[in-house]
Amino acid sequence: MTKFLMVDPACYSVAWEINPYMVGNVGRVDQSVARRQWLNLRSSLTEAGAAVETVSAPNDMPDAVFAANGGYWERGHFLLSRFARGERQPEERLWHTVATTRGDWVMDPWEWSNDSFEGAGDALADSAQGRFNLYMGYGQRTTASAARVLDDFTKRRVVALKLVDPRFYHLDLAVLPLSGGHVLVYPPALDSESYRVLRDCVGKEWIVEVSEEDALGFALNAVEVGKCLFANGFSKELYAILSGLGYLPVAVPMSEFMLAGGGCRCLVLSIDD
Ligand code: ARG
Repeated sequence: MTKFLMVDPACYSVAWEINPYMVGNVGRVDQSVARRQWLNLRSSLTEAGAAVETVSAPNDMPDAVFAANGGYWERGHFLLSRFARGERQPEERLWHTVATTRGDWVMDPWEWSNDSFEGAGDALADSAQGRFNLYMGYGQRTTASAARVLDDFTKRRVVALKLVDPRFYHLDLAVLPLSGGHVLVYPPALDSESYRVLRDCVGKEWIVEVSEEDALGFALNAVEVGKCLFANGFSKELYAILSGLGYLPVAVPMSEFMLAGGGCRCLVLSIDD
């Protein structure tokens, strides 16, 4: 069963500028529109067959609504994040409590290191086509050194991909592995060597390159449930490609959350068993 954790948007606002999307948007979120968009995402996911658990966060954690960054969950084990930005570090306590309350086995291996790791925003599992990969984004928030921890934690083949454009500060904005085996990617977000590594490891026939328009429209920040793919929006071209591959792309507008640099996938943490 597909399961997600989401954080109630009552805490949400743009209170600082820690990515390029947030610049100029402090204090500009319309709370009632944000709540409507968030509720629409949650009901879309449940109607598609997913189970969603909702938790709440205190008001002094305005970015906690982006649940994907709280940690990385796999098979009842929860790897806590170590946020790169001081503004979000208080969330580490919140996620520790959430995971222990659920009865997850919590791993917090960061204490003696200078690593940072921003959870499922920078860690994308790919179990399609016999793969057992974990794509890890680094260079913006997560540090390259986190690969060692992820390797230990997941036992997957960790494929570290360097993010080179500050607009794509988390990997889930630039790469999207799909359950059928295709991997969507906006190549300019990655350094060229990382893109070559990604292509080699999945096979180039599985790579689907998307346009800048789609990447900036947060089409890669998508949540898959059954055949449905939920994202802020898709170009006609991408819609046709995805339909051709057997998916049903569904636009779920995210304008209020994009003011903080987040889309559909940022708002959910997968706790799939
Ligand atoms: N304002 C948040 C930040 O800069 C947005 C996080 C988006 N999350 C994601 N998984 N891409 O940290």
